Amino acid sequence: MLDKQSSVPMYVQIEDYLKKQIIEGGFVIGIAIPSERELTDIFSVSRMTVRQSISNLVNEGLLYREKGRGTFVATPKIEQPLIGLTSFTEDMLSRGMKPSNKLISFEKMIPEMEIAYKLQLSRDEEVFVVKRIRFADNKPMAIERSYLPVKLVPDLELDKIEGSLYSFIEKDKRLTISHASQRMEAVLVKKEDAEFLEIRMPSAVLMMERTSYLTNDVPFEIVRSTYRADRYKFISEIRR
Ligand code: GLP
Repeated sequence: MLDKQSSVPMYVQIEDYLKKQIIEGGFVIGIAIPSERELTDIFSVSRMTVRQSISNLVNEGLLYREKGRGTFVATPKIEQPLIGLTSFTEDMLSRGMKPSNKLISFEKMIPEMEIAYKLQLSRDEEVFVVKRIRFADNKPMAIERSYLPVKLVPDLELDKIEGSLYSFIEKDKRLTISHASQRMEAVLVKKEDAEFLEIRMPSAVLMMERTSYLTNDVPFEIVRSTYRADRYKFISEIRR
């Protein structure tokens, strides 16, 4: 199985072997892979070598460890293209997954200066702040804090945000969503978000801030989304 004469280090060869098993379905999602001791025997290598391969696959998000239970095959990450201005609901439905939300808070307030500036609001104009946990097939994927100018959606109410916000804006309000700009960075998850996302501290998460516009460049929403880095992968195609 392994080529001991090869210049490719043993831990890389083991990693490749395990990866192949995961991709080709030899190891099944949610089922424990053989223990470190078993793999040590199978490959006739040191436990350190096996541990190194497994750690790399855990860091890549292909495997996860559970204390006292073993190492398991992770559900593949969602591949989210960085093109197209789509909503979470649309994204999940297009993958055959069931979207759902849990509302954490819904408030009306005068926003901090940065939000007011980006939404082109004067100092006394209010925004709705909607904080939701977004689920796919009942698994927490992201937390989103949306800031929407009250003057654009004055009748926004609890029942409207239980479903899709974009659908409310386009179908109920008959506003035309046109374009958005967004930026993404990796950050460490905050304690309260870790609980909502059901991840341990410290964990890296992907933070995306999107400013979305209606036609005529009217900003209607700023969203700060915190995505589980073990469930999301952002992809784009680039040309030269
Ligand atoms: C995505 C975007 C958000 C947007 C949301 C709307 O998650 N990153 O900016 O607010 O979709 O989703 P929905 O229409 O499902 O509420």
